[in-house]
Amino acid sequence: MRLDRFLCEMNLGTRSQVKAYVRQGLVSVNGAVARDAAAKVDERSDRVFFRGQELKYRKFVYYMLNKPEGVVSATTDKRDTAAVALLGRDCREDIFPVGRLDKDVTGLLLLTNDGDLAHRLLSPRKHVDKVYQVDMARPLDAEDIRQLEQGLDIGEERSTLPARVEVLDAGRILLTLHEGRFHQVKRMLQAVDNEVLKLKRIAFGGLVLDGGLAPGEYRELGEEEVAVLRSAASKHEDLDSCTAEYADAEQEAGVNDG
Ligand code: URA
Repeated sequence: MRLDRFLCEMNLGTRSQVKAYVRQGLVSVNGAVARDAAAKVDERSDRVFFRGQELKYRKFVYYMLNKPEGVVSATTDKRDTAAVALLGRDCREDIFPVGRLDKDVTGLLLLTNDGDLAHRLLSPRKHVDKVYQVDMARPLDAEDIRQLEQGLDIGEERSTLPARVEVLDAGRILLTLHEGRFHQVKRMLQAVDNEVLKLKRIAFGGLVLDGGLAPGEYRELGEEEVAVLRSAASKHEDLDSCTAEYADAEQEAGVNDG
């Protein structure tokens, strides 16, 4: 890739800033001061230094964001703040959110440039777990819980897959889903004559939202956390063909909300 792109991806600044650094002789490649920002570097083998410090290139980056209310799960947006914009200096051109949370929904949103992992995490075939903390208008009774756990009609061809309900108190549950349909939690609660007052995703694919992150804050994932995601993304390869066919149709229809 071009040296200026490499420097941008390492978060040194904008394209014009990094070009200025090169002109000022602050960048060296394999021991020689770089003079041409357009020169090609091999990010796997060339050793690039800025002000004497080596820049270790990472192809893929992974962040967990505690998405606040009012932010849309997008790379850019004309009207609203896009989740990716919250990364500030860490924002590389190629980062995107893995799936969607509604604008009024808070909590764990994964941001990455690893398209393959994202695709596998979102694939309906993988049944990656998502855990939501749900504040509801009314307490659930035993029959509501039975329906949510068994799967229920939310107005689509297929009922929802079995989910898990853990009652935290009269107005709050943890709901674990193994799929991600459009507005799924809200529609499931509607189907049992209830209403979601607040919704927060607290886990995704085994990755748990860091309680130290205030809304709007983010941090990079550790290697072990990325491994947890990889493992979630590689499970459940062998569904029966009927479920797999449905999963494909669902993905084509673009209903997965992550
Ligand atoms: N379910 C919803 O209703 N909304 C979301 O954003 C995620 C799950």
